[in-house]
Amino acid sequence: MEVQLRIAMIGGGYVGLVSGTCFAEFGTDVAIVETNPDRLSALREGRIPIYEPGLDRLVAENVTAGRLTFGDDMAAAIRGADAVFLAVGTPSRRGDGQADTSYVYAAVEQIARVAEGYTVIVTKSTVPVGTGREIARIVRATRPDLDFDVASNPEFLREGNAIADFMRPDRVIIGTDQSKPGGTQRAQDILRKLYRPLYLLETPMVFTGLETAELIKYSANSFLAMKITFINEIADLCEKVGADVIDVARSIGLDGRIGKKFLHPSPGFGGSCFPKDTRALTAIGRNAGSPVRLIETTVAVNEARMQAMAQRIIAFAGGDVSGLTIGVLGLTFKPETDDMREAASITILDQLDRAGAHIRAFDPAGMQTARTVLPQSVIYCSDAVEVAEGADIVVVLTEWNEFRSLSPYKLKNRMKGRKIADLRNIWDPQAIREAGFDYISLGRPD
Ligand code: NAD
Ligand code: UGA
Repeated sequence: MEVQLRIAMIGGGYVGLVSGTCFAEFGTDVAIVETNPDRLSALREGRIPIYEPGLDRLVAENVTAGRLTFGDDMAAAIRGADAVFLAVGTPSRRGDGQADTSYVYAAVEQIARVAEGYTVIVTKSTVPVGTGREIARIVRATRPDLDFDVASNPEFLREGNAIADFMRPDRVIIGTDQSKPGGTQRAQDILRKLYRPLYLLETPMVFTGLETAELIKYSANSFLAMKITFINEIADLCEKVGADVIDVARSIGLDGRIGKKFLHPSPGFGGSCFPKDTRALTAIGRNAGSPVRLIETTVAVNEARMQAMAQRIIAFAGGDVSGLTIGVLGLTFKPETDDMREAASITILDQLDRAGAHIRAFDPAGMQTARTVLPQSVIYCSDAVEVAEGADIVVVLTEWNEFRSLSPYKLKNRMKGRKIADLRNIWDPQAIREAGFDYISLGRPD
């Protein structure tokens, strides 16, 4: 009979909670360790501290089945665990853009102190190249007696689609120290067993070295960020030359070598990962004496774009928004999440606020966090139509489905002005203009 696997997941945030729950759903016993008291008490009380569709049901089922537990006792969680996953944050360090690995190393020291018997320490967090080796050094220094391996198993899930992404990934990457005397077969076998349900679905599994696995994650995120930035610049060009970015994106995407995904123009990519990971890759490249100039440019172009979008709204308003009311639909960095980290709305609304605009905003999931990061003066509304009340301009910043189906006439009845700036291209220009609006969007002909 198969022996039941047990793992500990250090960090119960977006990645730790989703991947821990999905491993439990695969039949593994999972102990999630979370040090944030608010997050932990929510989880213990059966509340999900993040917005992720379908996660509440999956967590409840696995808690009821006895496969998923939450706590803050590291020693209890890792006792007898076959693998300990690190899913703590690796935010950008202020100043140099490098990933801050302090949470990772702090957790590793805790693990090393209390581990008993053979342990595989696995980074699920996105970590700079060389982190796996540094983890091994810390463990050896803290516990020279401990039998352990380090593995890198980067996570590719997207917020809002996290469960499906974890359950049906394009690939699973497992990096181990291939130079280790005696090899790392034991660590690989444990990880292969953990991912067995995906193996059965014929998910490609790439077994590689530690550094390679770490670089794969940054390369994937940076490539996608570069792809978005490319189409954003093409959208700008379309506006100048009278071309349509939707047809350009669709047509180039039909070439299988390019692919149609991640070619939607936007006010700039945001979120907890693309901005920080592109900055981190440029730092990794510079430090290694091999600059990744395309990604350095991607970072600069994306940051400038968010500023430029605010200027575009001001220009659309006639050059001055002072005293005008701007209604904003969508605040989160993308739909189906409550995450506001590095959302374009932060830069754009900050500039509009400084320029003297009165901002009314609505987001289906992000308003609680928005209150902590957006200008104090923003007025939060209970729905999209309320946002339009007395507005001179309505601006779309996040493409939530409920905005797509909104009737322009409903907005018109409440608005003072007749201007709509749709920075996610959610509406049909002709229909909006026929409804009597002065309308701008991204990269589409007037
Ligand atoms: P997060 O901030 O939501 O979660 C991290 C959690 O770890 C927090 O709740 C924090 O309290 C907890 N924590 C920190 N130190 C701890 C410790 N010593 N013991 C126990 N808990 C501890 O972050 P996230 O979005 O889940 O990202 C985690 C990592 O995964 C990052 O490296 C990120 O780049 C990567 N990643 C994130 C996503 C995503 O969609 N968010 C996707 C793929 C990879
Ligand atoms: C992204 C990656 O897609 C995941 O594979 C990865 O695991 C994750 O980062 C991570 O490392 O954390 P996520 O940040 O959740 O996932 O969201 P995405 O759907 O990738 O969107 C990121 C940003 O790019 C958003 O601001 C979104 O609006 C923007 N975007 C995306 C565009 O502007 N255009 C597009 O065509 C696609």
